[in-house]
Amino acid sequence: MALRNIFKEGEPILRRKAREVVDIDERILTLLDDMRETMLRADGVGLAAPQVGVSKRIVIIKPDPDSEEIIEMINPVVSEKSGIQVGVEGCLSVDSSKNCKVARPMRLKIEYTDRDGNPHSEYAVGFKARVICHETDHLDGILFIDKEYKGR
Ligand code: NI
Repeated sequence: MALRNIFKEGEPILRRKAREVVDIDERILTLLDDMRETMLRADGVGLAAPQVGVSKRIVIIKPDPDSEEIIEMINPVVSEKSGIQVGVEGCLSVDSSKNCKVARPMRLKIEYTDRDGNPHSEYAVGFKARVICHETDHLDGILFIDKEYKGR
């Protein structure tokens, strides 16, 4: 595994729509390993491939601070969003001085493929749903600062 450089706000790749993964080949597996190491080193709870300069639809999340579990999602698709939660977000690609509140669904359905090519379809709530929304937004060139919640 190797650490990858984390691209910062202002880099055009963070504003591009990422491409679907067609083949889960050795390069993709290496990318997933590297994203894991890079996210853990940066003490993050999620990372999207465009953040390390790869415009592909891949995210990893670490949704529970009390668990070592990291979930890898290839070609993730969010559906069935319901409810609302407002909370402060930050991003490894954005200076922490810009952390701000964002409204997200409380509950959603997520479908994705894992590194072995197996399809998954599951529900997420609360913080996990927030992280999934934040990371999948990266795949469409959206940053959390675009969605700052101005209410109270
Ligand atoms: Ni982010």
